[in-house]
Amino acid sequence: MPAMSDEPFTLVIFGASGDLTRRKLVPALWSLYAGRTLPEPFAIIGSARSEVTDDAFRQRMREAVREFARVKPPSANVWDRFAASLSYVSGDPADPTLYASLDRAIRDIEKTRPGATNRLFYLATPPLAFATIPKRLADAGLLHEGEDHWRRVIIEKPFGSDLGSAHALNCALLEVLTEEQIYRIDHYLGKETVQNIMVLRFGNGLFEPLWSRHHIDHVQITVAETVGVEQRGRFYDATGALRDMVPNHLFQLLTLIAMEPPTCFGADAVRTEKGKVLEAAHIFGREDAERNVVRGQYGAGTVAGRAMAAYRGSAGVSPHSTTETYVALKLMIDNWRWAGVPFYLRTGKALAARRSEVVIQFKQAPFALFRDTPVDRLTPNDLSILIQPEEGVTLRFGAKVPGPSVRMEGVAMKFNYREHFRAAPNTGYETLIYDCMRGDATLFQRADNIEAGWRVVAPILEAWAQDQCRSLPQYPAGSTGPAEADELLARDHRHWRAIAKEDGSP
Ligand code: BG6
Repeated sequence: MPAMSDEPFTLVIFGASGDLTRRKLVPALWSLYAGRTLPEPFAIIGSARSEVTDDAFRQRMREAVREFARVKPPSANVWDRFAASLSYVSGDPADPTLYASLDRAIRDIEKTRPGATNRLFYLATPPLAFATIPKRLADAGLLHEGEDHWRRVIIEKPFGSDLGSAHALNCALLEVLTEEQIYRIDHYLGKETVQNIMVLRFGNGLFEPLWSRHHIDHVQITVAETVGVEQRGRFYDATGALRDMVPNHLFQLLTLIAMEPPTCFGADAVRTEKGKVLEAAHIFGREDAERNVVRGQYGAGTVAGRAMAAYRGSAGVSPHSTTETYVALKLMIDNWRWAGVPFYLRTGKALAARRSEVVIQFKQAPFALFRDTPVDRLTPNDLSILIQPEEGVTLRFGAKVPGPSVRMEGVAMKFNYREHFRAAPNTGYETLIYDCMRGDATLFQRADNIEAGWRVVAPILEAWAQDQCRSLPQYPAGSTGPAEADELLARDHRHWRAIAKEDGSP
């Protein structure tokens, strides 16, 4: 990241006693500070209902940084300087008096430092507060922008729970904010390899001519997790894998892979092209939804040598829950570039390995040349974009095995981010917080992108809602998902790339 001109700012984090603040936000802010990327002077105000002193908040954040930050606190001195910028204001986000206290606290900070009075409000709260907080901020006059200062709001996911609620939330936000002030976050867009998809496609003459139905057989997008629902049972049971992962993280990957080249890397140009992909997605009818979407729920099993209880036995989850913890779907993009090329998407919890990856499978070469040789199967060519846990790109092709006869074997050319750039992966939050401070919304979701994503999954949610009694395939924790997901591809004479490293890693 380039150094940034000094633009002082105050960041208010709503939901400061929550997990997101502790695990992701403050560790990301700390890493930016330790890397000298955070503009100074700055102030971070945590806000939540619980009564906590400034010192107790700082102590809690120090522990969070020690546990979760990419950059560990190097010395007490540097930490003390960072910690001096942290403070805490308690209150209920629905209560207007909280905003009077915040106004006072922000003004007191701004009085002590020269320069612009920029303010960033981060909504790391449960989604119920997403419409209320901006409204209260506006009522308290905290959102007025001026020539020399900005006001921005970052909103976490989940952004709505279906098309109607997402649209209603967009309307509520746009009553008090302009679109340019709203930063809807999807942390997948902050991941290096996800951003690299655009560079790979549009910064290299090699790939683009091959990037269409003429040369690509199909695309697989996988986000496999080993974790179960952990402490989030209540939220997850009302949400499920489809809502939690597909219209956001998986569709980010899908749109970056399938979009047309934007006219420039500006926020609107990129987001417009991404939006067009979802507009071209084939919208399922009820029967399509049944045929092309598989759901599953994990039962008891063993993940990485450790026993995991069944989903229905998790805290906060109904013992009769029909919520899916796995979903796989076949999506078609009805446009000139992609007509006839299936995009297979899958995501699930409690799977055999943690692996996020996009595989572009190219069409088979004609077999004719090898008909008189012992080559019985040509190695497929594919390009894997690895997102996590390893970050990199691998191209696979066939090579001749040395020797007098023509024998072929699959080989791979690998690029690994960590080895090449010697950089540890960041969670995405560092990039996104930094971009928001610079006013660059390219990696954030625009209102229409969010709604386009929900529009694609809406018929699936409707089909499931009408079909409560249908059996929900089970898969043991630690497996690769339900057998029905394999059948989804087998029907098309294809198969999923292996999830688990031991069998499948390139
Ligand atoms: C979150 C989902 O948005 O993303 C979680 O709510 C999921 O259920 C997480 O575990 C995955 O993020 P990552 O960065 O660990 O792949």
